[in-house]
Amino acid sequence: MSIPVRIGIIGGGLMGREVASALARWFVLENFPVRAEVTAVCDLAEKPREWFRQVPTIKLLTADYHELLARAEVDVVYVAVPHNLHEAIYLDVLKAGKDLLAEKPFGIDLAAARAIAAAAESSGRFVRCSSEFPFLPGAQRAFRIARDGKLGRVLEIHSGFHHSSDLDPTKAANWKRQVKTCGEIGVMGDLGMHAIHLPFRLGWKPKRVYAQLQKIYHERPDGKGGMAPCDTWDNALLHSEVEVEGSEVPVRFEMKRLAPGETNTWFIEILGTDGGVKFSTKEPKTLWTFQRGKEQSWLRTDLGFHGPFPTITGGIFEPGFPDCFLQMWAAYLAERAGALEGRFGCVTPREAVQSHELFAAALKSHAEKRAVDLAEVA
Ligand SMILES: NC(=O)c1ccc[n+]([C@@H]2O[C@H](COP(=O)([O-])OP(=O)(O)OC[C@H]3O[C@@H](n4cnc5c(N)ncnc54)[C@H](O)[C@@H]3O)[C@@H](O)[C@H]2O)c1
Repeated sequence: MSIPVRIGIIGGGLMGREVASALARWFVLENFPVRAEVTAVCDLAEKPREWFRQVPTIKLLTADYHELLARAEVDVVYVAVPHNLHEAIYLDVLKAGKDLLAEKPFGIDLAAARAIAAAAESSGRFVRCSSEFPFLPGAQRAFRIARDGKLGRVLEIHSGFHHSSDLDPTKAANWKRQVKTCGEIGVMGDLGMHAIHLPFRLGWKPKRVYAQLQKIYHERPDGKGGMAPCDTWDNALLHSEVEVEGSEVPVRFEMKRLAPGETNTWFIEILGTDGGVKFSTKEPKTLWTFQRGKEQSWLRTDLGFHGPFPTITGGIFEPGFPDCFLQMWAAYLAERAGALEGRFGCVTPREAVQSHELFAAALKSHAEKRAVDLAEVA
């Protein structure tokens, strides 16, 4: 009989509901050491709160997150709220003695990320940050190929996340489009953690960055007949270098809200002298690999449904977003229980702070139109 872990959710919007539905399918995992169930949910708004009434394990629905944090029947808190609220709520979660799975970007800016990481350290609670796409089978295979040195000398790395949700100028503004709620880092805060997780876990941390940031639509309908300012960055290209086995290797991190033709595309591409590997969620079951030979050719492999944690799902089925999100939760709870057993883990507070150092340096780079050493913002 697996041990129950009781989850509280603060912020029942898009991601809060994804968590409830992912955890409701927990039994898909085979021989997993703990059983996750959502016991409490907090959202300021009544409509999202009411949605959670259909989740049978929930004992508390509240508009006050302090009430949720006071409950003994909550072991772990998942927080998915606008970025300006991350720091205060994450710190309160830790003060209440709960473990935390924090949504990215782990605070609105570098100072907030540092304060949260320091509190995580001093509280001794188990804290990780959300980033689910590296848990897809194709991403895991790319990670292992690179980690195991199958690529020869690494030539270049390209990692990113593209969507096109903001191409339509008539789409109404929301908190993700404004500096005061999303942060000055804009799209880097929205999508950057997805792009850095796998390269950072390979030990590839940027030394300096040259950033090109774009703001395309400066205002959007406010949903009340007027217009609202939209002052966050829409697209970001970060040109960096990392050190791989004593050599400097170029890395390009791409984060775009305005990427024509893309709905929700996470991708990684690593090229080396002996081999290469490419994976994109555009082809969710396809892994592309290259091996140096007499002829130049890429091999296309149809991958099955093999995430880091075994499931009852048929091995030939295709994986998608809900599957990698569930695998990320499995990684969080396995690591918390001391049962990760060498598998890929969620973003650590240290990696989250390092991502913010990259984004802070990128803001400086774009403003000053020069490459910025990350030591300048450390
Ligand atoms: N991991 C991913 O793939 C992914 C995807 C989208 C968003 N996110 C992240 O998740 C977080 C939330 O994004 P979202 O898209 O779910 O936003 P959302 O706007 O859909 O939901 C946010 C919810 O928080 C509630 N809220 C606001 N203030 C609150 C408070 N003080 N107490 C309780 N509830 C409060 C709002 O009423 C809303 O329902 C952000 O950090 C975002 O970057 C992650």
